[in-house]
Amino acid sequence: MSNDQQIAAHYSRSELLSSIEAGLTAMGKTAATATMEDLAPVDEFHIGGRAATTKLCEQLGVLAESKVVDIGCGIGGTARFISSTFGCQVTGIDLTPEYIDVARALSDWTGLAEHLRFEAGSALDMPFDDGSFDVAAQLHVGMNIEDKGALFEEVFRVLRPGGRFGVYDVMGESGAQHAYPVPWASDSSMSFVDSQSNYRQALESAGFVIRTETNRRDFAADFFAALKQRMAEVGGPPPLGLHVIMGDDAATKVAHMIEAVASGALAPVELVCEKPLT
Ligand SMILES: C[S@@+](CC[C@H](N)C(=O)[O-])C[C@H]1O[C@@H](n2cnc3c(N)ncnc32)[C@H](O)[C@@H]1O
Repeated sequence: MSNDQQIAAHYSRSELLSSIEAGLTAMGKTAATATMEDLAPVDEFHIGGRAATTKLCEQLGVLAESKVVDIGCGIGGTARFISSTFGCQVTGIDLTPEYIDVARALSDWTGLAEHLRFEAGSALDMPFDDGSFDVAAQLHVGMNIEDKGALFEEVFRVLRPGGRFGVYDVMGESGAQHAYPVPWASDSSMSFVDSQSNYRQALESAGFVIRTETNRRDFAADFFAALKQRMAEVGGPPPLGLHVIMGDDAATKVAHMIEAVASGALAPVELVCEKPLT
């Protein structure tokens, strides 16, 4: 199995769509009545969920006429949020074919499919023309991609001059130790967590100008504390949450990630950059 296939297998769940439907049923909802807000706990697969997406997207200058690409879009929560918030067209691309099928179905359910397009494929070889997008976003994807230089060159290629790129990835200094599994990797063979300085270097080598860099460690700690409190109050996970997408070992994956953030080994970091006009 290639590394890409191993990564897609790590993320694939059998019957993810029907598990989401079962969660909705437990909430007294159906596919026909599900809203974006109902799905947010399961379809925003990154630290801080919808709040983190909102914070990143506010910095990307998205307009109603923008063409946006969500790289490593998962099951499409961020793409749906961007499209419905700004009224724009969003294209999502993801390595995991099951996620693309689920992204399409959830977009149909929520009545947003008209402005959304989802493609199965690799961020390292995107089936898009040069300069096709005004804005690109990548949330918690770089941890699965070893060659950050090649990744950012490809993002640079598909963005138009003047376009913005927002990255929100989990980063850590080289040699930082943490336990596996974590949400993005069953073991170290599929984890390519990199340092903020290596990200900066790879982005600048690709041609980007970095506008802002924000370490979101404190935000992550608050998010985990609130999550823990909510679970204690209701006596377990809600019908829809990241446990549905992460599978049977979700609690272990989340515990390892919380430990790694608490120890300072890892932290989510936002980088907002621009492709220069000339
Ligand atoms: C932790 S999930 C985040 C999903 C989504 N961005 C979100 O925040 O909800 C990481 C995603 O990256 C995708 N991915 C990993 N490597 C990729 C690659 N080389 N090209 C495209 N997608 C990739 C995985 O399939 C998975 O959906």
